[in-house]
Amino acid sequence: MTELVQNASGVQHGSWIELRTDPLLENLRTLRKHARQNDVLAVIKANAYGHGLTEIARALAGQVTYFGVASLREALELKENFPQTPVFLFGHLFPHELSAALLGGIMLSVSSLEKAAEISAQSESLGRKTPVHIKIDTGMGRMGIPVRDAGPVIEKMARLKGLMLDGIYTHFPTAEKSDAFRETQVREFGLLLQSLEKKSIVFRYRHLSNSAATLTLETPMINMIRPGLTLYGIYPDQNLRTAASFKPVLSLKSRILLVKKVHPGESVGYGREFIATKTTTVAVLPFGYSHGYPYAAWKKASVLHAGKRYPLAGKVSMDYIAVDLGDAEAKEGDTVTLLGEEKGERITAEDIAHWAGTIPYEIVTRLSASLPRIVV
Ligand SMILES: Cc1ncc(COP(=O)(O)O)c(C=O)c1O
Repeated sequence: MTELVQNASGVQHGSWIELRTDPLLENLRTLRKHARQNDVLAVIKANAYGHGLTEIARALAGQVTYFGVASLREALELKENFPQTPVFLFGHLFPHELSAALLGGIMLSVSSLEKAAEISAQSESLGRKTPVHIKIDTGMGRMGIPVRDAGPVIEKMARLKGLMLDGIYTHFPTAEKSDAFRETQVREFGLLLQSLEKKSIVFRYRHLSNSAATLTLETPMINMIRPGLTLYGIYPDQNLRTAASFKPVLSLKSRILLVKKVHPGESVGYGREFIATKTTTVAVLPFGYSHGYPYAAWKKASVLHAGKRYPLAGKVSMDYIAVDLGDAEAKEGDTVTLLGEEKGERITAEDIAHWAGTIPYEIVTRLSASLPRIVV
């Protein structure tokens, strides 16, 4: 990528996100191959895990079975801009949102007979039959029909005139562990499918695998996978690195706005946490926690400049990060990589999560929506 990243009006960005769509499509292929499933519900909720909803949807449009999001706003935005790819809404719908969702042709998830009846009634009044996926709670403990009650509830749903039961799914709270808990979830879900089949209730789509389960669980009862994080080349668990190779899609860049010498005894930043013990070069970047850099990472964090790694000089501020460049040469306008690769050195979302004591999901989903996203 060039040093000069410009927006349409020719103004240079101080900080920006670079997106590579080749690895995104390669990660998709890897997931399909690993799971031996062609149907993919690509989870692109939360602004495509912070990567940029429009940019990621544009790259995946027409290539996946569904786009999966959690908010009606994101669902309708996708429907409007990428009508060729069906949109699946995981989230709950409040009564006032229902008609927009139905008119928008969004694939809905239902977790109760009451909600199913509400959707059915509204659909009938529109002269329609709405396809839905039923969510089963096998242990996640949030939404979903509790698996032990699900049989009779689904039989009642099947009789609703305005509803078409298109899919059924469940979700794992500990997908990365192939332990007894997960086994029980799979078994109970399977038994439910069998008992429904005996009553001639069958589903076009049956799904339960997020990224971790896609990599660690093989079961013939499903026919679609539901990956999120690995699509973006990020691992939900470091133990899964050996299972398949995924390549990061996103890099985070910033441009040095100030270079200065800091002398022994002088401090940089809030709390005076950084006090120079020898004369050093400090660079300031226009990227702070308001852009999504985690405040908690500052003690362990590093960034890349000219392919070398440097620690932060003090705490992360709202709009700025200071970097201790030691004896290195740098100038205003130089590009610094906060996440991504430079000359073989790499910082991953997993690294930043580790420094901040959090999970990589949080690192990427918190990247400010206002950062420019540049597809390279
Ligand atoms: C219901 C559901 N399925 C799939 C996913 C994708 O999970 P992952 O990003 O771990 O692949 C999520 C993510 O939160 C989810 O809520």
